[in-house]
Amino acid sequence: MKNIRNFCIIAHIDHGKSTLADRLLDVTHTITDREKQAQVLDDMDLERERGITIKSHAIQMDYEQDGEKYVLNLIDTPGHVDFSYEVSRSIAACEGALLIVDATQGIQAQTISNLYLAIENDLEIIPILNKIDLPNANPEDVKDQIVDLLGCDIDDILSASGKTGEGVPEILEAIVARVPAPTGDPDAPLQALIFDSEFNSFRGIVAYIRVMNGEIKKGDTVKFVNTKKEYEADEIGVLRLIQEPRASLKTGDVGYIISGIKTSTEVKVGDTVTHRDRPCKEGIDGFAEVKPMVFAGVYPIDSEDYEDLRASMEKLRLNDASLTFEPESSMALGFGFRCGFLGMLHMEIIQERLDREFDMNVITTVPNVSYVAHTKKGDKFEMHNPSDMPDPNSLDFIEEPFIKAQIITKSEYTGSIMNLCMSKRGVMTNQQYLTSDRVELTYEMPLGEIVFDFYDKLKSISKGYASFDYFLIGVRPAKLVKLDILLNGEGVDALSTLIHADNAQSFGRRMCEKLKELIPRQQFDIAIQGAIGAKIISRETVKAVRKDVTAKCYGGDITRKRKLLEKQKKGKKKMKQIGNVEVPQKAFLAVLKLD
Ligand code: GTP
Repeated sequence: MKNIRNFCIIAHIDHGKSTLADRLLDVTHTITDREKQAQVLDDMDLERERGITIKSHAIQMDYEQDGEKYVLNLIDTPGHVDFSYEVSRSIAACEGALLIVDATQGIQAQTISNLYLAIENDLEIIPILNKIDLPNANPEDVKDQIVDLLGCDIDDILSASGKTGEGVPEILEAIVARVPAPTGDPDAPLQALIFDSEFNSFRGIVAYIRVMNGEIKKGDTVKFVNTKKEYEADEIGVLRLIQEPRASLKTGDVGYIISGIKTSTEVKVGDTVTHRDRPCKEGIDGFAEVKPMVFAGVYPIDSEDYEDLRASMEKLRLNDASLTFEPESSMALGFGFRCGFLGMLHMEIIQERLDREFDMNVITTVPNVSYVAHTKKGDKFEMHNPSDMPDPNSLDFIEEPFIKAQIITKSEYTGSIMNLCMSKRGVMTNQQYLTSDRVELTYEMPLGEIVFDFYDKLKSISKGYASFDYFLIGVRPAKLVKLDILLNGEGVDALSTLIHADNAQSFGRRMCEKLKELIPRQQFDIAIQGAIGAKIISRETVKAVRKDVTAKCYGGDITRKRKLLEKQKKGKKKMKQIGNVEVPQKAFLAVLKLD
């Protein structure tokens, strides 16, 4: 146990976490050249393309120093707010953290939010200034920022480059010297933390664990404390580049357990594994069920694909327990599913996976957060869909989720960022200068305002020089109304949104304008109206056009004619017929594109 070091790397996105992790694997000869790929830890295609570590993994390295052999377990953490609970559990499995800061960028919002998680878990923090090879690196300034943030000594900061490998051996030395060895009682009842899990189509669910106390052996009957389910430990082992089976895992070890579990919903990150016959007194602190925060309807474009869509979603859920879905139907779109996502990135990932892995052509409706409706009778229920909104006469009030947001930016953009936050109903609770030209702004804002287009706007008004992170702080009463959209007098439920009463008027107007742009002209006029209850608040018209694509062919060339017709049919696939109006797929997300 005294020669084990469990650590993670925390960093703002793109500060070089994966590159540095690869270097550590290189220097410790954990990967051979043949096995080497650009970024071995990111093994999902999608991850590599997006350059974002979506799922956390762990890897074990051997390291020798002064004749002493050490086992270093690197636990990778996902880098996006949508997955912050997974980050917190990965951190809880470690004793130390490498805090990486890009020497050209300085401290950013996620540097701070991840650091707070590490400090809460009492991790030893090793600050590392990365990318020092870059000519525009600003090591002195960024070191000052780190000293201010951590209250550490300037000499505690290591300098490195994941690119050239400079400073990497010193990082390994620091891990051994500064990160404490695991503590825990090897003779106590088994207590192991599940910090991640993964679906394998041959073996079922692989749960990644950190043994906090006791020992687990192959063949043991184990119990998951929070789900209360029991399993045989069919296989346990450590995580090298591949899974290597072992006879047992002891206190302080990081490894995996396979126990014939077929679906991801049975293995909850944060749960505790113990023995059935000699259970620990209680589970490890910090267990929480991850709850989806953003909901949207997902509908097949072709209603015949409904069953295929269901099968695809079920397959997706096998390896992504945080995806929830239940059948719903829409007057406009027919049968589909109401899906719950952790956040906007998660929603995009699922959409992309449906398309790539299952070839499903779907319409996703406007996302919304989960609201709590209180009726005059005193009932309360969660609304995941604007159509769940009760009749205004029976409604007492609605509550909406609120977040605390941290924004770090160059001071010249403070003014425009404040305006943006204000337009999103944000209230500033703190403003703090990190250096003479960098400011940290703290806001309380409704989550519902962030799911729309906050992040893109923030990036564009700050020319990319603003970083943003948030966490939930609870629900608060909100004056929300339901805005409906009518096409030629017919309500399109899939276009309804819940919106703050004060913004409803301008929102309705912009929605109609946007839809006018997106809905192509057809052979009759199309009236687009915004309404709150029976009251029409905005209107636009798409003028009729007579479009006869075959007219150009002079009736002569039949193959040309057929080609044109086929082309038109293909174009139609992306359209949905609403009453007599054809609405393109992208119109259902019009709200995300409002100026
Ligand atoms: P996420 O996993 O997306 O959070 O990113 P990351 O923090 O893992 O960053 P990644 O390792 O993917 O590096 C981001 C970019 O910076 C890549 O283009 C790397 O090639 C580059 N990079 C990483 N480390 C260094 C470095 O030390 N020097 C230079 N010049 N470039 C680096």
